[in-house]
Amino acid sequence: MCGIIGCVGRGDETLDTLVHGLAKLEYRGYDSAGVALATDTVDVCKKSGKIDDLRAALESRTLSGPVGIGHTRWSTHGPPTDENAHPHRDCRGEVAVVHNGIIENYQSLRDELASAGHEFRSDTDTEVVPHLIEDALADGANPETAVREAIARLEGSYAVAVVIAGVDAIFAARNDSPLVLGIDDGEEGTGDAPGGAYYLASDVPAFRDHTDRVVYLDDGEFARLSSRGWRVTTLDGEPVEKAVDTVDWDPEETGKSGYDHFMLKEIHEQPRALRQCLRGRVDELSGTVDLGDLGDLTPRAVQFVACGTSYHAAIYAAQLFEEAGIPAKAYLASEYASKTPPIGDALVIGVTQSGETADTLSALREARRRGARTLAVTNTVGSTAARECDHTLYIRAGPEIGVAATKTFASQLAALNLLSLSVTSVSDSRDVIAGLRELPGAVQEILDDSNAEAVAETYGDAGAYFFIGRGLHYPVALEGALKMKEITYKHAEGFAAGELKHGPLALVTENTPVFAVVTGDDEMARKTIGNVKEVEARDAPVVAVTDGQSDVERYADHVLRVPDTHRRIAAVVANVQLQLVAYHTAAQLDRSIDKPRNLAKSVTVE
Ligand code: G6P
Repeated sequence: MCGIIGCVGRGDETLDTLVHGLAKLEYRGYDSAGVALATDTVDVCKKSGKIDDLRAALESRTLSGPVGIGHTRWSTHGPPTDENAHPHRDCRGEVAVVHNGIIENYQSLRDELASAGHEFRSDTDTEVVPHLIEDALADGANPETAVREAIARLEGSYAVAVVIAGVDAIFAARNDSPLVLGIDDGEEGTGDAPGGAYYLASDVPAFRDHTDRVVYLDDGEFARLSSRGWRVTTLDGEPVEKAVDTVDWDPEETGKSGYDHFMLKEIHEQPRALRQCLRGRVDELSGTVDLGDLGDLTPRAVQFVACGTSYHAAIYAAQLFEEAGIPAKAYLASEYASKTPPIGDALVIGVTQSGETADTLSALREARRRGARTLAVTNTVGSTAARECDHTLYIRAGPEIGVAATKTFASQLAALNLLSLSVTSVSDSRDVIAGLRELPGAVQEILDDSNAEAVAETYGDAGAYFFIGRGLHYPVALEGALKMKEITYKHAEGFAAGELKHGPLALVTENTPVFAVVTGDDEMARKTIGNVKEVEARDAPVVAVTDGQSDVERYADHVLRVPDTHRRIAAVVANVQLQLVAYHTAAQLDRSIDKPRNLAKSVTVE
């Protein structure tokens, strides 16, 4: 998804700060990048492709100025070309704009502006904004008013940042797309700090190397950053008091620390992430969980809304609640509104790593419109989901840069276990808590001794990959397949093990390895083994992910061993083996693992 960076007060380092910030936003997924610096003129340099392409283009240019904005674009309107890359300018080249989101009324604005003589150079919805500002300036508005007036005409979702020739300031506004300010040397609330440096970005890593003090903008707010300070108002100019928060993670956490890819680093960070998630929240002796100020939840029914990997965590969690006698269902967030599910007094839980996924935010808003209480289960402090929901449970995984979610999935499962223990009555809660305590160590055991790389080598040229599991292992099968397709670009599907024979079995051949997740030795394990035999009879290679309790290994060509743990925990550890298989398969194929084609980390459009 598009990423925005802006800075003022960095003097000669403005351009470097912008490009460095863009590199930190690469994880969001993008296909072009650009920067604009303002002095008495506005200079723009933008390129389709990677940030290195932009860097190469900048070598032959001299861009300088005390104030600037930058952008990574993830195409929505028009292909990824140099012309469509941001920043976009007005006819006179004196206004430059970057934007994340979708301007829904752009066509009518564009028609109106074109018939008034404005010339457009791109296919984007964004380009209407500089032209609207140009008109307002031509009508005599001062720069700030001109930007406000232009933004007031936009419908849809946007985070917008603007620089104007001869103006030592950045103007910015948000509606439904994230935007956060970075404050260096500013005094809380006053915005009066001569000599300070100020930043704005779609996400904190873009400026985290410079400051840990942040101000999260809310929808409908407008910001002005200059070398003299910062100010937040409503779009109409009413002052808004904003709290300055401090982010508590280290910039180092956003580096690769010697790993080839962020994804591998983040897979290996899982023990630490899980410990952070559990810290101070469980009491093994009393068998209780304390989730701090989450408040009195005691739901009579629960609905989960989520997308992608988070949806798989939601399926897992819905089963935990169902087992505890609380009706629960997981919805794909993008389908939630059209399903018009009865809400009653349900608690609606949005599971979202970023807290910014447009589909999930929209489902949560729909739930609130219907009178439901909402809870965000998220990794991102200050995210829109965290701010808009009635309650928030943080999964505390630390920053995740790889587009393919790994440690956040594990932490979601752990946090959702804690939630289920705290608001339902679970007969074996002591065992679950003991299992959670052992979880970081169990994951470490796998990381220290996995043969996933060898399995990946054996099946690197397979035609397709299938994943099967039952009960809590069903979402693990879905997640195993999602990871595989996201980063290898190969066909992979996950199925409820029992469903295989109702259709997908037709696809099974000796060239389609089937990964079967089977732990324990109960009725469910035995039934899955029955499905494994069906696969084996069709000559498909079988890879069993198992704790060795059942005899599934007799029917498997390869075994990915997981420690013997509580059945709830087994799903989390089994998933780690599948993450590693996907990673090593993609590494062999030399894929762009951290930034897979066409995908974005934070999808801020519906
Ligand atoms: C995108 C990412 C997925 C992620 C999904 C939901 O599609 O590529 O990895 O699972 O969004 O993201 P969220 O931040 O809401 O968990």
